[in-house]
Amino acid sequence: MIVSTGSLFEIAYGRFAVGAYNINNMEQALGLFRGNLESEAPFIVQISRGARKYANVKMIEAIIRAADEIHPEAIFAVHLDHGDEETAYDCIDSGFYSSVMIDASHHPFEENIAITRRVVDRAHARGISVEAELGMLGGVEEDVKVDEKHAMLTDPDEAAEFVERTECDSLAVAIGTSHGAYKFSGRKGLHFERLAEIQRRLPNYPLVMHGSSSVPRSEVERINAAGGAIPSSARGVNADEFARAVPLGVAKVNIDTDGRLVWTRVHREFFRDQPEKFDFRGPGKEYVAEYARFIAHKNGKLGSAGRLEEVRAALG
Ligand code: G3H
Ligand code: 13P
Ligand code: ZN
Repeated sequence: MIVSTGSLFEIAYGRFAVGAYNINNMEQALGLFRGNLESEAPFIVQISRGARKYANVKMIEAIIRAADEIHPEAIFAVHLDHGDEETAYDCIDSGFYSSVMIDASHHPFEENIAITRRVVDRAHARGISVEAELGMLGGVEEDVKVDEKHAMLTDPDEAAEFVERTECDSLAVAIGTSHGAYKFSGRKGLHFERLAEIQRRLPNYPLVMHGSSSVPRSEVERINAAGGAIPSSARGVNADEFARAVPLGVAKVNIDTDGRLVWTRVHREFFRDQPEKFDFRGPGKEYVAEYARFIAHKNGKLGSAGRLEEVRAALG
């Protein structure tokens, strides 16, 4: 059942974070739904502009509709990840999305506000909620690359002004994470004191943590043992830190890279160990099972595992 993103945040705020997982293909969708159902968690399926281009918009949306039909007991929201203005409007007008992200964080403050405000007006007129971003995460997302030097933590005063003026429904904050597999190169982890300052100015307001993959060392080692060449500097967020972020207002946690690592490990190991094989359904099946296991584990860390029936009851 597709629900509004806001309804999930209302139930989750301060108690658990909703996992927001990117998908690009059928196998990811199958694993995602299975993992969330096995761990009895509500979740957010998110589609990036890259995913819309890769899979074709109609195809990726049809995959989600089909997964919803196959698993009518699942409770989830559908979200555009890192949208630009044009894509946000496309998603709003399509009527399929629960929420869109407008990411104008690479623009100066006033321009970010102006762009976000336009998207909010159009989205709210259709009953769709909007996630915006303030501050700059490091790493690579779509066509924007931000190196660590230029990454910028979210300013708490600006965050309050931004939300007041744009009326966006949730805010992605930069608190030390970055996209991709190389986070925290030689530096500390999350900036909890910054998060607490933001929450003080925006009480009861859902904050979003991007760049939240854990990049497990064991996963990287297995990939490399099977022919991969991922540098040992690959590092992610300690998943035990989610529990500290939740009472500080983080209601949505974005995870993509970890799923790619699972895919890479399963496929590399499969073909290394069975070089005579060429039926892609073999590793595909294994990937679905492994991805489901990963999702269930992650939901345990987010605190969303075991919440499905509570959410169903609250939604009526
Ligand atoms: O933040 C970016 C997400 O990981 C999506 O990645 O744009 O390569 O699909 P993508
Ligand atoms: P990761 O690269 O850490 O998985 O972050 C994903 C993300 O923020 C998607 O918007
Ligand atoms: Zn992101």
